[in-house]
Amino acid sequence: MLVPAAVAVANGGGRSHDTSLRALGAQQGLRIGTAVDAAQLGSNKAYTGIVADQFSAVTAENAMKWDAVEPSQGVHNWKAADDLVKFAQQNGQAVRGHTLMWHNQTPGWLTTGVANGSITDAQLRDILHQHVTDEVTHFKGKVWQWDVVNEVFANSWETPQADGLNRDDFWVKHLGSGVIADVFRWAHQADPKALLMYNDYNITGEDGTNVKFQAVYDFVKNLRKQGVPIDGIGEQGHLDTQYGFDAQRYQADLQAYGDLGLKVAITEADVRTFVGNSTDQVPTDALAQFAQPYEFSELLKGCQLVSQCISFTAWGVYDGDSWIPGTFSGEGYGLLYDVNLQPKVAYSTLQQDLKLAAGGHHGPAGSGN
Ligand code: XIL
Repeated sequence: MLVPAAVAVANGGGRSHDTSLRALGAQQGLRIGTAVDAAQLGSNKAYTGIVADQFSAVTAENAMKWDAVEPSQGVHNWKAADDLVKFAQQNGQAVRGHTLMWHNQTPGWLTTGVANGSITDAQLRDILHQHVTDEVTHFKGKVWQWDVVNEVFANSWETPQADGLNRDDFWVKHLGSGVIADVFRWAHQADPKALLMYNDYNITGEDGTNVKFQAVYDFVKNLRKQGVPIDGIGEQGHLDTQYGFDAQRYQADLQAYGDLGLKVAITEADVRTFVGNSTDQVPTDALAQFAQPYEFSELLKGCQLVSQCISFTAWGVYDGDSWIPGTFSGEGYGLLYDVNLQPKVAYSTLQQDLKLAAGGHHGPAGSGN
């Protein structure tokens, strides 16, 4: 293979002066990603520059969700998602597809039809099959990893079904647990080369117990045994400094998934904390300025230490464009860049972690003599 020298260096072929997250990650075969807001891509110049320069993987924050791509039944709108895929191709980035089956952000025509009985469960199954086939086919060959199924397991404080699934999940309730294996099979038929992931939160012990981890682990192990085409686990990684974080358990759980023969990916990393207001997002507790980068760093290091971990994605670029203030009352400060798109301590901490893994400054022992 012919690789121009400059590219070989930038991709980790030797010591490089490029200290972007993406270049440093490439030195250890790890893609560093971000969720991208379609509304800011292109129109916000500083934002767009950061996405291109710092990241080697992108996820559509909303543009590939069902309500975005099929606003009316049978009428598709791929524009925003296509634009992102094109941007990624132009910038040498891999695309994470997010997400095919999820209880949230389903189109109104679908939920209304199910609620009023005009869509029967048998029809719902066909509609889901069609959706998965349409979307995966549309992006065939262009998506590296798909979050095929999102958030179907019960939380540790809820009473699960016997198989660990959330008994109130929209899809499980209407179509039964078996639909999960089917969605993976349908996605695989449409694009046999894409990596197919199960994606969820609190599946590496972050909520203080390993109950949800164990349920996902057992379920996925069983899927593999049945030959269901599932390639990996997406651990979302939404943390909150008020709860603390057991980094040892997190790493051990990631490793356990890896030991099943699965790849793992950190798919939606952010670390929120209480802030004075959502405009400035200054932490109310001075120590949170240390806790936030610390937890971000532990999220990255766990991935770096597990050889099956293939990508580490932050859920958004900067605090001014994060889902956190709108979702968690009084909280913010969750990302790597501040409200003015300036890099935060969390950014330089991850950069350091990546540099250290790439060999740091000192080189091999003895080279200092
Ligand atoms: C969030 C987006 O960030 C918001 O913009 C949107 O309004 C709601 O969804 N888990 C997921 C993501 O898998 O898709 C969610 O993204 C955050 C939680």
